Amino acid sequence: HPTKRQVTQTMRKKFPSSIYQLLVSIGDQAAKLSMAPYLIGGMVRDLLLDKDNKDMDIVVEGNGIQLALHLQATYGGSVRQHEEFKTATWKHPSGFLIDLTSARTEYYDFPAALPKVEMSTIKEDLFRRDFSINAMAISLNYESFGELLDYFHGYEDLISGKIRVLYNLSFVEDPTRILRSLRFESRFDFRMDTQTEKLAHQSANNILSVSKQRLANELCRLFYEGNASHGVNRLYELELHTYLVTNPIKHEIAANRIRELEDYHRDLHQKGLAISRSVWIGYMAALTYGDSKDIRELEDYCLSKEDQTVLNKIEELIHHLNQDLVNAPIATFHEHFSTYSLESLLGFLAFIHQDAKKSFIDYLIKRERLQRKITGNDLKELGLTPSPLFKELLYKAEVFQLQSSTITKREILEKLTGQY
Ligand code: CTP
Repeated sequence: HPTKRQVTQTMRKKFPSSIYQLLVSIGDQAAKLSMAPYLIGGMVRDLLLDKDNKDMDIVVEGNGIQLALHLQATYGGSVRQHEEFKTATWKHPSGFLIDLTSARTEYYDFPAALPKVEMSTIKEDLFRRDFSINAMAISLNYESFGELLDYFHGYEDLISGKIRVLYNLSFVEDPTRILRSLRFESRFDFRMDTQTEKLAHQSANNILSVSKQRLANELCRLFYEGNASHGVNRLYELELHTYLVTNPIKHEIAANRIRELEDYHRDLHQKGLAISRSVWIGYMAALTYGDSKDIRELEDYCLSKEDQTVLNKIEELIHHLNQDLVNAPIATFHEHFSTYSLESLLGFLAFIHQDAKKSFIDYLIKRERLQRKITGNDLKELGLTPSPLFKELLYKAEVFQLQSSTITKREILEKLTGQY
């Protein structure tokens, strides 16, 4: 029997009233079809942790698609069906997305291994999931609305900060769960329990059977969402690193590189600089020696065009920058880096001389904050006609501004007039 707890009050307090009402309506409508719906997964976990989560996952004892169509007929919106998975996404008229799934006994999230979908009970459905903290459900049924169904001590684990698998083959069945467990450790400052850690360690080589793209999805989130240093230390402790890149750098060096990158990344973010997800490729690069072979193999991990560009640019810098930049003036930094994106340059940090790093970061901040005081129009007003010289002069104007934050527009123009 599950531990039962009433969480209606918590739901009322924490969810916006539109979401709360939506859940009540789903319960009411399901009752008309004699189906039993449950809110499950991340939204339940995060409700109990007092964190926001907008992924509404509903598991139905009954037919999820039928319920979705019924909700659409009643309230409007649109439905996308996935017949083979017995799931549907209902887009509420407000635009909010709700996933409705028929309770089933097997877990899969990629089509290569499609098991026969068998309808089952909520308990069986929860048992096939990854960790106890993700395997709780809240009943949306009219008579038991707000009851937390917790068959596997998820609530206890949530309170004590434990990541625990529900069965021994969990990581073998889905090795990406090993990376998920590190992500949840990092995000919530939780820890695997002893048995889960042992299983993760034993199953580490199974990640070889997972496509680089699926691994990339998890790794990107591991580096971008939480405490990357923790994530990387755990990758090494569980000996996953050897399966991620052919020639991983030593643990200690990796730990230092990642800590540094993470600290600067956080610092720049806090200073208001916009850094895209693609910086994650830089974290991956930091785990390698930086030889051309190491870096090139990361190509398989790229999730987007931007990831590709960041990778190419890091590689370009590793191979073409032949100056250590120690004590270099800011103009030299701009000369080398003005055309590179912030993400590529952060990703290159690990390969810069230790004594040049502070100036490198100072340069990045100044460059990103630079508000150009001189435009092409100003040059025209000096009586110049547009020509390739414009680009050069505008670049020089940038350098003057980087060199002095207080320089005025007039002073820049004066300096420029001496240059042509
Ligand atoms: N799940 C699983 N095994 C996986 C992926 C997901 O068992 N490899 C289950 C978990 O029960 C999870 C649910 O599917 O709670 C939804 O998965 P997902 O949306 O990926 O994760 P969340 O738990 O919602 O986490 P996040 O907040 O990071 O999205």
